[in-house]
Amino acid sequence: MIFYFSATGNCKYVASRLSKGTNEEMVSIIDCMKDGRYRFSIKPGESIGIVSPTYFFKLPAIVCDFLEKAEFLPDGKPYVYFVSTYGTSCGCCGSVVNAYMTAKGFPLDARFSIKMPDSWTPMFDLSDEVRVKRINEAAEPQIDDAVRKVQEGDRGDFMKMKLPGFAGSIFYKSYDKQRTTDHFHVEDSCVGCGLCAGKCPVDAIEMQDGKPVWTKEKCLACLGCLHRCPTFSIQYGDKTKKHGQYRNPHVLS
Ligand SMILES: Cc1cc2nc3c(=O)[nH]c(=O)nc-3n(C[C@H](O)[C@H](O)[C@H](O)COP(=O)(O)O)c2cc1C
Ligand code: SF4
Ligand code: SF4
Repeated sequence: MIFYFSATGNCKYVASRLSKGTNEEMVSIIDCMKDGRYRFSIKPGESIGIVSPTYFFKLPAIVCDFLEKAEFLPDGKPYVYFVSTYGTSCGCCGSVVNAYMTAKGFPLDARFSIKMPDSWTPMFDLSDEVRVKRINEAAEPQIDDAVRKVQEGDRGDFMKMKLPGFAGSIFYKSYDKQRTTDHFHVEDSCVGCGLCAGKCPVDAIEMQDGKPVWTKEKCLACLGCLHRCPTFSIQYGDKTKKHGQYRNPHVLS
């Protein structure tokens, strides 16, 4: 089973490549959290795969919640692996996942990192389509390699661009501040389609008088609403407008 969280499609694409390569089911962490589904039977020979973006050198809050709550019920000893996608550095997210999984009795057998376009556009510029395309092309051999190693049950830490735990912990403190929904505003170009509210993983947006309103004080800061909006009407702070929108080209929804 391949458990994944994805806002802009990079992890969904990687999970789909792993699913094709291993013939194992993809399970959306968002759907599990919304449905309160936390117990998973793992068939003999099946593995436990976790695919997540890096957020502030660690993990999105929803992935931490899920890993805390999830119960894995394998028949035999499963192969357990983690794949992080990242834009600049995957920080110490491999160690964080390993700590959650070790506490459940399933330490990671293998961990991988895949460099992809960085969806944190309050800081990073994804407005150059040619550059973004090049990053995605360079990700392909990294994904191929991870799929091959998972198929063969290879063991080891194959993550690149890591940081020690203490550095990750310092940066992770700023994630909490960035999760404040006050950072968002909506422009007049909004056509009231409701996609942002419908797709928010934590139901932080409500449509009021045909416009999105952030009704929770904090969200995941995943920027799925901003990157998915058909009229690019959602902005976070004052830099996202010029840094552009991004969706993984292989993922439609
Ligand atoms: C809130 C947030 C924080 C992020 N923090 C990091 C980070 O610390 N290091 C990094 O390399 N990329 C970071 N990124 C970039 C994502 O990890 C990367 O773009 C990932 O591939 C997105 O996956 P997705 O398309 O499946 O959502 C961050 C993105 C967001 C939205
Ligand atoms: S997705 Fe964009 S256009 Fe649609 S309601 Fe939200 S802000 Fe408006
Ligand atoms: S409001 Fe936007 S950024 Fe926040 S969790 Fe929902 S989709 Fe993600």
